[in-house]
Amino acid sequence: MAKYIVEKSGPLRGEVSISGSKNSVLPLMAAALLPEDECIIRSVPELRDVALMKEILASLGSEVTEIEEGTLSIHTENITSTQADFNLVNKMRASILVMGALLGRKGIARIPRPGGCAIGKRPIDLHLKGFQALGAIISEKEEYIEAVAGPQGLIGENIYLDFPSVGATENIMMAAVFASGTTYIENAAEEPEIVDLANFLNKMGAKIRGAGTDTIKIEGVTKLHGARHTVIPDRIETATFMLAAAITRGAIAINNCIPDHVKPVIAKLRECGVRIEVHEDSMIVRGDLGPHNAANIKTLPYPGFPTDVQSPFMAYLTTVEGQSEVIETVFENRFMHVTQLDKMGAMIDISGNKAIIRGNSHLRGSQVMATDLRAGAALVLAGFVADGETEVSEIYHIERGYEHFIEKFAKLGGTIRKVDN
Ligand code: UD1
Repeated sequence: MAKYIVEKSGPLRGEVSISGSKNSVLPLMAAALLPEDECIIRSVPELRDVALMKEILASLGSEVTEIEEGTLSIHTENITSTQADFNLVNKMRASILVMGALLGRKGIARIPRPGGCAIGKRPIDLHLKGFQALGAIISEKEEYIEAVAGPQGLIGENIYLDFPSVGATENIMMAAVFASGTTYIENAAEEPEIVDLANFLNKMGAKIRGAGTDTIKIEGVTKLHGARHTVIPDRIETATFMLAAAITRGAIAINNCIPDHVKPVIAKLRECGVRIEVHEDSMIVRGDLGPHNAANIKTLPYPGFPTDVQSPFMAYLTTVEGQSEVIETVFENRFMHVTQLDKMGAMIDISGNKAIIRGNSHLRGSQVMATDLRAGAALVLAGFVADGETEVSEIYHIERGYEHFIEKFAKLGGTIRKVDN
């Protein structure tokens, strides 16, 4: 299995350009199942999850072509299968997103139980409750889950989500675009990726209002047409490079980003002592001016502090002055990186969903494992400041979600070698 060898890399300096968002492009690709016409998606990052989503769409009948680097054409004239392949779906949780689109377009969708990062139980009950509220009959079999619309098709309804789940909001939006009447999703997720999806669907002719607030209104339409769309920049990748500047005490100019999407990360880094100059679509993050102090963090749905930035931020907090507290409220079991950071010399104690990080750790290179995508990024960041070499295994997680990871860090002076054993 391939590994990364991360070398102690001094302060990272230079410029980096942020790629299209992983968490946006996956639902956008799923949405391209809805119209019969061709859709064009630009700024598509080259990621393992995107490659998997391409395969899933092709297996359902879409013609997926990369017309130029970073631009995908997805043409779904006919849906040839309403059942996503078990082996593909099992590799990626976001594959559940084809369910809403299939149900919306064909009135039936079958999906094997989805896989993905091993963070908590990650059920899909909210997705299914939403489909059910629209009139679909759900049958849960041992190997797959089926949703079938009633004889009248899906019917608009008021849906209240018990938790503002990102995936459930996206899936219900896609199913509801063809439902008759009006659907309201209340306590909807407000993440920028939801807005991106609503914008794409509206370009196709959908009538969606309120995306980005806690109530989304979807007036059903009978037909959608093809559309062109550019994926928003990845806010989690943006935060990862902000933290790279902070942890290595470097200075990084981050281009092609939307600073508004990382407000809580900006606020918390400033609280720690990092200087951040914010421009319209770029930022200069200076970790070289210190001192660096402790801060407390609590993850929350957007616009709160993102759970996906929790582990990279924690890696940074191991290096600051004083004791910090991190509370994870979005996912259970999202502290798996703690054992790995402790192996590198960090001093972190966990009690339930709270982690106490004693700062000023002198990190040392060690053999560690990327337990999920963002944990992998956290370990690489820690590796840049640890003495000696850090060997990170299970790096396929990192490749699922970071485009040109090694190359982007290399340009900033961060050395990561990929070895194949
Ligand atoms: C998305 C992101 C992921 C991010 C997460 C939270 C994608 C592809 N992935 O994941 O990177 O960490 O949002 O910002 O966009 N839940 C239920 N029942 C459900 C659905 C979710 O209980 O039916 C729970 C989950 O177990 C979790 C919480 O709700 O505890 C948040 O999950 P959700 O917002 O759905 O995350 P994803 O869409 O899976």
